[in-house]
Amino acid sequence: MSFKITKMIDLDSIDFLVDVEAPEVAERFHPGQFVMLMTRKEGERIPMSIMKVNDGKISMYIRKLGKTSKELRDGITSFENVIGPLGHGIEEKKYGTVVVVSDAVCGHAENYAICEALGKIEGNNIISIQTFPSKKEIYPDEYLTKKIAHRHFITTEDGSFGDKGSYVTTLKRLLDNDVKIDYVFGGGKLPTMKAVSTILAINNIDNLFTTRQMMVDGSGMCGSCRLYIDGEMKLSCVDGPMFDSRKVNWTRAMKRYGMFKKEEKIADEYYEAHKGGCGQCQK
Ligand SMILES: Cc1cc2nc3c(=O)[nH]c(=O)nc-3n(C[C@H](O)[C@H](O)[C@H](O)COP(=O)(O)OP(=O)(O)OC[C@H]3O[C@@H](n4cnc5c(N)ncnc54)[C@H](O)[C@@H]3O)c2cc1C
Ligand code: FES
Repeated sequence: MSFKITKMIDLDSIDFLVDVEAPEVAERFHPGQFVMLMTRKEGERIPMSIMKVNDGKISMYIRKLGKTSKELRDGITSFENVIGPLGHGIEEKKYGTVVVVSDAVCGHAENYAICEALGKIEGNNIISIQTFPSKKEIYPDEYLTKKIAHRHFITTEDGSFGDKGSYVTTLKRLLDNDVKIDYVFGGGKLPTMKAVSTILAINNIDNLFTTRQMMVDGSGMCGSCRLYIDGEMKLSCVDGPMFDSRKVNWTRAMKRYGMFKKEEKIADEYYEAHKGGCGQCQK
């Protein structure tokens, strides 16, 4: 069975949007969940967050990073498999004032899904903060959370638009201005999540952040995505992927995340050298 790609457009120079027909996934999706994608039968499975579901299709924001994501942007028209939805989604209920933060492609996808779902529930006041490297990498308006959050902030790492720095700067400013925050959801870069966890601990704010661990099977069998929550081993794919940031051992999580860098570099170099077609790289 193959899953047809119905749309693929660039969001900036390296991130792109993909819509794919996956009605069974779309029907069961809750914000915060992800899928494992396979571009071909023998290929690796790559985890991707879902940004939106609509009419039997799921939308994802994907970054051109290594072999599989580049191969996808270079012209694949369907997926061999779309497995999911996986992991636990958030509870869709009234929280009060919710801040949703993100500073990388996967986080922006989750931010969108969470704002869209919680913004519809009476009694929720949604503040979204999205961080981009610079003004030129900010996504087009319709792919930001601008229209679905009650308040929307953009920060840029180089200060070329909005507050300079990560979403942590803006979150701190809200707290300094006595905005009462009931809950924070977030995702993106691991060092920023580690930094924000301290602020959430000091201010005693409940939260859920998506832990980005290396996933191989996505079904709790391989142990690759293990991480430590309050000293206890958990699997990000089946127990998460969202956890209370105050309980995550971020130092260990960051160390494990880089463990396949060497193999990824080899696969990427091989793909770059052979794309266009000797045939061997299709394996
Ligand atoms: C729960 C979850 C949700 C994710 N959502 C998104 C998303 O919405 N958009 C997006 O662009 N990326 C997302 N990612 C990361 C994405 O899976 C990797 O970028 C992708 O696998 C890269 O594959 P590649 O072959 O192109 O690059 P590679 O060269 O194989 O890897 C490049 C980098 O991507 C990361 N990565 C690679 N393989 C994995 C893996 N199996 N599990 C986790 N990280 C990996 C590592 O940081 C690695 O250094 C998510 C990861 C997880 C765990
Ligand atoms: S990816 Fe294998 S146990 Fe989570």
